[in-house]
Amino acid sequence: MHRVAYVNNSFVPMDKAFVSIEDRGLQFSDSVYEVVMVINKNLIDFEHHIKRLEFSLNQLSIKFYINKIIIKNIFQKLIKKNSLKNGILYLQITRGVQPREHAYKKNLKPTFICYTQKKTFNLPNNNFKSYKAVTYPDIRWSRVDIKSTSLLPNILASTYALKNKAYEAIFIKNNKITEAAHSNVWIIKNNTIYTHPAKSRILNGITRLKIIEIIKKNKLKFKEKTFTLKQLYDADEVFITSSGSLITPINKIDNKKINNGKIGILTKKLAVMLISNYKKQK
Ligand SMILES: Cc1ncc(COP(=O)(O)O)c(C=O)c1O
Repeated sequence: MHRVAYVNNSFVPMDKAFVSIEDRGLQFSDSVYEVVMVINKNLIDFEHHIKRLEFSLNQLSIKFYINKIIIKNIFQKLIKKNSLKNGILYLQITRGVQPREHAYKKNLKPTFICYTQKKTFNLPNNNFKSYKAVTYPDIRWSRVDIKSTSLLPNILASTYALKNKAYEAIFIKNNKITEAAHSNVWIIKNNTIYTHPAKSRILNGITRLKIIEIIKKNKLKFKEKTFTLKQLYDADEVFITSSGSLITPINKIDNKKINNGKIGILTKKLAVMLISNYKKQK
């Protein structure tokens, strides 16, 4: 089947989807992005993603007016044209095209790129899988709360993880766990769920927000608080979250087994609640 992408104002075959070599997104990572999950052809948490996209654009003064109705329509057409049942929608907005120079000019026309990718999600059924993670120094800049495509440290960390047969790289800064190369990190100790506060040093994940909602609704014990590498190793359960892979249980970190290598009860419970929330979204 031929894949279809959307570039600026047109739907185009994937192999004809191009941007200029002077696009600032290509030359300087001068761009922002979102990854939206699609389950059963439905967009998940669309409004949250749009809100974060607006935040990222504003923080970088990229002048792109977000029309939610138009973007939703493009997303739905892409889902249809690509016969996407389960997977992700990738959206990127760059500052635009300009002869190479670090400082950007006023009134550039942003480049808008969007396409879909099929994906089989790791769901909390009999086949629910857990994975190894490795730790890696958090060498990123201090505005990781902006979802920009400046992702070189994340790429180095993810490749280190892959080489070490791990699914994800967990970042450490000043002996504290911040998040991971493409997900947020959670630990459970004595039935209390912990994750790094979203004020700084992490991307405020949409899946993270959703899980906090679920935790509060179900009156589970929760602290938005930093934790150390030792606390990570000594946790009863560890899991990571992202729109690309929902809740992923972690059974080993570096050489330390977590929960004897088994998926934790509370991790699975949260994963079940999350997917049932997603299935209700239309
Ligand atoms: C660094 C980082 N943290 C957290 C997340 C999770 O965010 P979300 O749940 O919005 O996908 C991602 C997702 O790509 C990420 O790249």
